[in-house]
Amino acid sequence: MKIIIINGPNLNLLGKREQNIYGDLPFEEFFSTLQNKYPSVELSHFQSNIEGELIDKIQEVGFSYDGIILNAAAYSHTSVGIGDAVKAIESPVIEVHISNTFAREEFRHQSYISPVAKGVILGFGLHSYELALQSFVD
Ligand code: DQA
Repeated sequence: MKIIIINGPNLNLLGKREQNIYGDLPFEEFFSTLQNKYPSVELSHFQSNIEGELIDKIQEVGFSYDGIILNAAAYSHTSVGIGDAVKAIESPVIEVHISNTFAREEFRHQSYISPVAKGVILGFGLHSYELALQSFVD
């Protein structure tokens, strides 16, 4: 089973960035733990701060992978292009957020991904990614 985690802007700073919201664990560390925990899954990870690169990656994997776990970060709230890319592909996409975006500023309540995603998981810290992965494995 081939699953990819795609992370959007500023998520390369996890571990350093706003630790009170996003925690103190760098994503790479969390990712290797996840890989070790699910050895039967071919799990990969891509991060970009650039909207077009995220769209390119979604298109590249979106006709062959079994699932995409997508945290488009701030672009979730602004990007018609990423929403359209998710709509255009065949692989199921689970939208993930580390924080509970509905408990934050109003502009974070809107998402262009949610209406076209298979499901949405948010507010469980980095564990949100694992819950998404589990739902694909199940
Ligand atoms: C985030 C929530 C977004 O509103 C924010 O812009 C992020 C991270 C999250 O995982 O909680 O960068 O997607």
